[in-house]
This record gives sequence, C-alpha cells and structure tokens, in this order.
Amino acid sequence: MKNKVRSNWFRPAVLKMKGYTPGEQPNDPTVIKLNTNESPYAPSAPILKAFQYLVDERLRLYPEPSADTLRHALSELYDWPVEGILVGNGSDEILSILFAASVGKGDLVQYPDLTYSLYPILAQIREAKTKEVKLDVSFDLPFEKFSTNARITFLGYPNPPIGNCFSLKKIEAFARKTKGLVLIDEAYVDFADGNCLDLARFNPNILILRTMSKSFSLAGVRLGFVFAHPEIIEQLMKVKDSYNVNRVTQALGLAALTSESLETVKKNVKKIRFERDTMTEALRNMGFSVPDSQANFVLATRTGKLTAESLYKNLKNKGILIRYFSHPRLRNSLRITIGTPEQNRRLLTELKKLL
Ligand SMILES: Cc1ncc(COP(=O)(O)O)c(C=O)c1O
Repeated sequence: MKNKVRSNWFRPAVLKMKGYTPGEQPNDPTVIKLNTNESPYAPSAPILKAFQYLVDERLRLYPEPSADTLRHALSELYDWPVEGILVGNGSDEILSILFAASVGKGDLVQYPDLTYSLYPILAQIREAKTKEVKLDVSFDLPFEKFSTNARITFLGYPNPPIGNCFSLKKIEAFARKTKGLVLIDEAYVDFADGNCLDLARFNPNILILRTMSKSFSLAGVRLGFVFAHPEIIEQLMKVKDSYNVNRVTQALGLAALTSESLETVKKNVKKIRFERDTMTEALRNMGFSVPDSQANFVLATRTGKLTAESLYKNLKNKGILIRYFSHPRLRNSLRITIGTPEQNRRLLTELKKLL
C-alpha cells in the first residue's frame, strides 16, 4: 500500500507515533507473571459469586450510563460527593477522557521523566506540548522545575516504576501555585502508607485517579474511578462514551465494595506489603539497588556482566515474566511485581543462579 494513500487516512501525529506497549499477557497459565503489577491473588468470594448471577437475559440491556449505583457506593465508602465521581473502563479510559476534555493541540502537559508511560502517548495523540521533569538521584521530584502554566500535571502516588511517594506538602504547595489541573494517579495507593484524597478535598484542581486493577484483583474487569470537584466531573461526563462501563463490570465493581470483599483486599494487601519488604531485602543482598517501594512492585538496578535486558530474557526462558524498559535511565533496571511467596522465591532462586 502506498504511503501517500495512508497519509490521507490518518492524522500526521498518529502516523508518526509508536503507540503504547502493554506488558506481555501470555496465555500459558504456568508462566509466573510478575510483569504487569496485577494481584497474584484471586478476587474475593462475593465477586466470583456475583459473576455467576450476571450472565442472563439482562445482557440484552444497556448498562447504567454513568454507573450511578456504583458511584453511590463509592461515594459512601470514600466519603466523596457522588457528583464528584466518574467511573471508567479502567483508569486508562479516564486518562483518555481527561485528555479529550482538557488538552488541545499545543497545550502543555507535564510529568516526571519516570512515571506511567501512557501519559506521553496520550499527549502525542492530542498533539500537546510536553515537559518532563527529571527525578533526582533519589527519585524525588523537584516540583520547582514544573511549569505553573501546564494544562495538566501528572504524577503517581506511589509513582511508578519506582514506587516511591512524593511529599504531600510539596504536592499541595504545587497544586496551589499551578494554574492547571493536577492528576494524582493512585493506581497503587492501597499498598502505600497514605493517600492524597484529603489534599483533593481542599484543592479543587486536584483529581485523584484510582483503579480496581491492582489491590482489588480485578485487572481483567477494567474498572477505574476518579474523585474530583463536581465541576470537573461535569466536563468529563460530556466527553465519555454514553455507556462506557459495561453491565458486568458495574455489577462486579459493586460486589467488590461489600465489607467481605474489602476485608479480602485488606488481607491480600497485607501479604503483598510483607512480601515486598522481603523481596527488597533479598534483592539488596544480591547486589541490586532497590529504592523503598510503597507499591506492589519494586525497581531493582544493578550493573554487572549480565545486562537487565539479558536477565529479563533469561528469566522469560525459565517461565518467569518481569518488566524491562528501554528508557535510558532504566537500562540497568528490572521492575518486578510482587507475587505469592512461592512465586517470589522461584524468581529469587532463578535470579541467583543467573548471577
Ligand atoms: C500508574 C498507573 N495508572 C493507571 C494504570 C492503568 O490501570 P487500569 O487497569 O485501571 O487501566 C496503570 C496500569 O498499570 C498504572 O500503572
């Protein structure tokens, strides 16, 4: 097919871009999957039970357009006004909705140089200007280097792929100074010691993004939500698809908010936090530098004969998937999702043999 024809079909910005590279999702159930920060534990019993009652003739009907029943349940649990909540098909969809509502060609968006790698892709799609602020040697964020004129500033709390949390005071001081929105991506916050929800209560330009993909063990269900000022949510609602969250997802999301489900989440989080600290220590003993993580993954860096890429490939050959990034600052680093104790032990054993 001739290039000339294709260039008439798509925007130059899209033709030029590479697109996001999602982590591998192999079909082989024997693979130890420590590459995409999912939970190693099954969803709670009420969720699995709810699923059995969902597949019936009601599938012919559209779901609630704005997932109001689920929004009410979230409102109650998190003590946030219903009008200030939007539910999405994963938190990724909410990021797309936010970009569509807020960012036009040439608008500035900014984020740390190391963070969730979807933000730059969404910026490219909208032909936005971007600014990356380099995290310092201890992966802290020099907020003074951010522009105060950006449409949106993005940061993770905890921030991937390191898993550290920036100072709440500094986040708030920046939010008060900037003229734009501040999106705090709390995908991993249930594994952390604190969160930024209270900051958003007092700073109307802060949005708090959450997902059920990690601590709730529901990555396959695709359910995210955002807490923000009702006037922000009102604008986002205009941009979303009419029925953006399907019927099954809404019902499973509701089941995930029952007290029994929340108890399961709490137990799983406790196990993962314990394993995270054990894994950190074991990797440090093997000569890796591993910053303290507040998430369900760790970033392990090591220079030696075997590059991070070859460690990743060797582990893959042994049926263990972890994440390796081609980012220049991460060339010697591996991001490892915390699995079950058995999975973690297998990884450490194979890694030791390789080194
Ligand atoms: C920081 C961050 N935000 C958002 C997401 C996307 O989550 P979801 O599965 O809700 O789309 C991820 C997925 O890994 C993530 O790491």
